[in-house]
Amino acid sequence: MSLRIANQVRRGPAVTLSVDGQAVEAFAGESLAAALWAAGRRALRQSPRAGTPRGVFCMMGACQECLVRVDGQRALACQVAVYADMRVETGAAT
Ligand code: FES
Repeated sequence: MSLRIANQVRRGPAVTLSVDGQAVEAFAGESLAAALWAAGRRALRQSPRAGTPRGVFCMMGACQECLVRVDGQRALACQVAVYADMRVETGAAT
């Protein structure tokens, strides 16, 4: 089941990302956090102390729970727009 709204929405062109080596379909211009959520990826890293899964929370760059690596650099998934061939690593941003 897709989590995206189907009607009356304009989107950028379809692009493919690599997320932990797996292809994920998204639309250029949407946030990486939204694309990962729509793809069913909820856990993006583990908390350093307890090792519990962490994922998107605020969606505005304040909580840093969505920290991932994009093309090798640390990035907040909610603050980055997706683009074709983006290479994303989850669980490796510390
Ligand atoms: S979800 Fe809070 S900083 Fe990205």
